[in-house]
Amino acid sequence: MKPQVTIVGGGMITHDQILPSLYEMQRLDAIGEISVCALRSGILRELAEAKGIARAFPGHSFRAFPALTSPDTPQPSLYRDVIREMAPGNVVIVAVPDPLHYEVVMAALEHDQHVCCVKPLVLQHSQAVEIGKEAFARGLVVGVEYHKRFDDRSLMARRRYRQGLFGDFRLGTACLLEKWYYRNSNFQNWCTKENSDAFTYIGCHYVDLVHFITGLLPTAVSVYGIADSYPNGNEGYLWTDARILWNNGACLNVQNALGFPDEAPGTNTQGLVMYCRGRENGALISHSDQYRGLKYSYTEKSEDPGATIYAEPSPDYFQYVDLGGPGLRPVGYGYRSVDYIVRACLRAGSEKSLSRRQELLAEIDAAGVIATPVNSSYNELVVEAGRKSILNGGRTVEIRYGDHPGIG
Ligand SMILES: NC(=O)c1ccc[n+]([C@@H]2O[C@H](COP(=O)([O-])OP(=O)(O)OC[C@H]3O[C@@H](n4cnc5c(N)ncnc54)[C@H](O)[C@@H]3O)[C@@H](O)[C@H]2O)c1
Repeated sequence: MKPQVTIVGGGMITHDQILPSLYEMQRLDAIGEISVCALRSGILRELAEAKGIARAFPGHSFRAFPALTSPDTPQPSLYRDVIREMAPGNVVIVAVPDPLHYEVVMAALEHDQHVCCVKPLVLQHSQAVEIGKEAFARGLVVGVEYHKRFDDRSLMARRRYRQGLFGDFRLGTACLLEKWYYRNSNFQNWCTKENSDAFTYIGCHYVDLVHFITGLLPTAVSVYGIADSYPNGNEGYLWTDARILWNNGACLNVQNALGFPDEAPGTNTQGLVMYCRGRENGALISHSDQYRGLKYSYTEKSEDPGATIYAEPSPDYFQYVDLGGPGLRPVGYGYRSVDYIVRACLRAGSEKSLSRRQELLAEIDAAGVIATPVNSSYNELVVEAGRKSILNGGRTVEIRYGDHPGIG
């Protein structure tokens, strides 16, 4: 039987990236049945009827939990039943809001499933450690879907940095501001002051990327947050400014918000600049991750959320292209990232010997291409330190490594 994949969560990231990537893998015969479990049936009906996905993947469908015809009432623990029914050694993709990742990942591991989890893996370092131990004991892959790692420019910078071509990172600045209209989405129900903030939600991408490129570890974090109201009246830290210090003394500034103008071109604005020191000179890495050289001015706005008449689309994250059909093919690092992590899960899934699977996990951890609980738990330390800092007016919170990693 072909490998089964269950996605838990049927929201934006499932629609935009995960489900289409899995449909492509299904088209390529790498996986078999796909199930999607969400909190309510309504969101799954929207997913099943989504025109863009249907146009790209005619004839593909998923098993829905709750069933598409059932009433739109919340079923918060249904995912446990769905995972329990899966044969061991298959794959669960975790795509629920950040505060729920831990319980869904643990439920998947308890039932011997390999896991691909959207970022951030969890919100506490101790939870990442626990997940890493449980996964190793059972010989299960847990890959964290930091898809920017699969952007070729990240891989190029990483290779050249590690060849010594950029010297030593000193000062950097990164930003990722999502559009204002995001405030109208389900974010307003969970990305609130007590749960998360703009830095935790999106800033982690660039912290992860600076580690990915340089191999450095973050040692101190301060995050200043500005609270703002969502349309439903909930409050969130929707504007954040973070400063991350690194174990070579370097400093990275990261600005994040749910506030980039809806009428501005591009689906968001984002980029990374790193100033570095060579032996006798300066060096520079500068990535515009939003403006990638395309300027399109349409005759009219599309119906997609956030669409503008003048646009600067990214050809690199996730696009559908027509390569002769049937349907359309997904291209970009969003697809490559899911494909790469799921294939690592499938490789482990086809291996019966626990010790061989554990060797494979050690290889994946050491290669450092896929973020895992073992090789990327600095991200959880940064999240914890960032939350502590933002709730204390932006004070600096230190990170310890060694035998007892934690925050100060
Ligand atoms: N760039 C990125 O890497 C990126 C981008 C967007 C989102 N994400 C991450 O993806 C996750 C989901 O984000 P989103 O934007 O899709 O959110 P969303 O609010 O659009 O969707 C969340 C989904 O989770 C489901 N859900 C909630 N509780 C559940 C439960 N108990 N059982 C089953 N399903 C449940 C909801 O039904 C909904 O379908 C978040 O962790 C977010 O940080 C990552």
